[in-house]
Amino acid sequence: MTDNKPKLHDVKLRIIKQLSDGYFHSGEGLGEQLGISRAAISKHIKGIQEWGIDIYRVQGKGYQLSSPIDLLDLDIIQSGSSVPVELFPVIDSTNQYLLDHINERPSGSVCIAEYQAQGRGRRGRQWASPFGSNLYFSMYWQLESGVAAAMGLSLAIGVAIVDALEGLGAEGLKLKWPNDLYFEDKKLAGILVEMSAQTGGVAHLVIGMGLNINMKVDGSTIDQPWANLNQVFTGDIPSRSEIVIALIEAWKQVLEQYENQGMAGFVERWNELDNFKNKPIKLLIGHKEIQGIGKGINQQGGILLETEQGLETYLGGEISLRKVE
Ligand code: ATP
Ligand code: BTN
Repeated sequence: MTDNKPKLHDVKLRIIKQLSDGYFHSGEGLGEQLGISRAAISKHIKGIQEWGIDIYRVQGKGYQLSSPIDLLDLDIIQSGSSVPVELFPVIDSTNQYLLDHINERPSGSVCIAEYQAQGRGRRGRQWASPFGSNLYFSMYWQLESGVAAAMGLSLAIGVAIVDALEGLGAEGLKLKWPNDLYFEDKKLAGILVEMSAQTGGVAHLVIGMGLNINMKVDGSTIDQPWANLNQVFTGDIPSRSEIVIALIEAWKQVLEQYENQGMAGFVERWNELDNFKNKPIKLLIGHKEIQGIGKGINQQGGILLETEQGLETYLGGEISLRKVE
């Protein structure tokens, strides 16, 4: 497990802060500012590059980021939010952090990070989480209606994310059943709902989202087409902190509505946003593969598939949807 203590990464974070303006900074100058040698700076720069930040060095000029970083600002985020927010520069996984601390936090608490060393997707898959380029965002939620009601939660949260981003000016966002946001047929964000415990009928859930904003090429972990939010906005993209504030408020509102009405209030909107409506798709269920035409979701949040046998419904966490070429 990665150590979440900020002190451990203090020097690297201070270097990133200096470089975040996008200008050149000499190794010597950085060393003087931080009270360490040029050699130590060079070592830290290597560590920073391992976090996925693109830094290059030009002889006689020093170090420069390939593009400026818009760092998350906790003061701005907290002052615009109605729930407690924790920001970590480096963490193993924001979902894991909240799962480990639910007894000490009120429902609605949020954890965000600039970098995840062990970001995860469904079924233990890796979530690429380079420093400073995307959002890694988790919220703890006590679902009074219990775990049986949690089935459609990733669908309702998908709607919340699209609505929050549209409120900021985004267009063309779509959803893929059961847990992804799509833009131009590429994966823009993923949602991961995990349960810590159930006490007296209340489900203690952590809902996480990874949203790509301006991620550079990732050759290692992503084996499918993916998109960035900066491709979605035609004009200026809001700051990452503004996006976090909009997401927090949208999630809270949707979770409260979900608590009272379940999927009912979201089905129609979800179906409007369905990326695969009336398109040929296949469902992967274990070793089984079922082909058909996507027909959106039903009132329970199950996926509807028109097959040769007629209209079929599938519901459950172990199903993957794929497009048929
Ligand atoms: P499923 O339909 O089963 O959910 P999926 O391929 O979307 O399929 P997930 O577990 O939801 O699988 O997401 C993890 C997958 O997402 C990884 O296997 C990888 O291919 C991809 N991935 C990892 N990091 C990112 C990222 N930052 N942006 C987009 N896609 C990513
Ligand atoms: C998926 O598509 O499978 C879901 C990806 C979820 C990634 C987010 S990033 C914040 C939170 N912390 C994690 O480790 N995972 C989720």
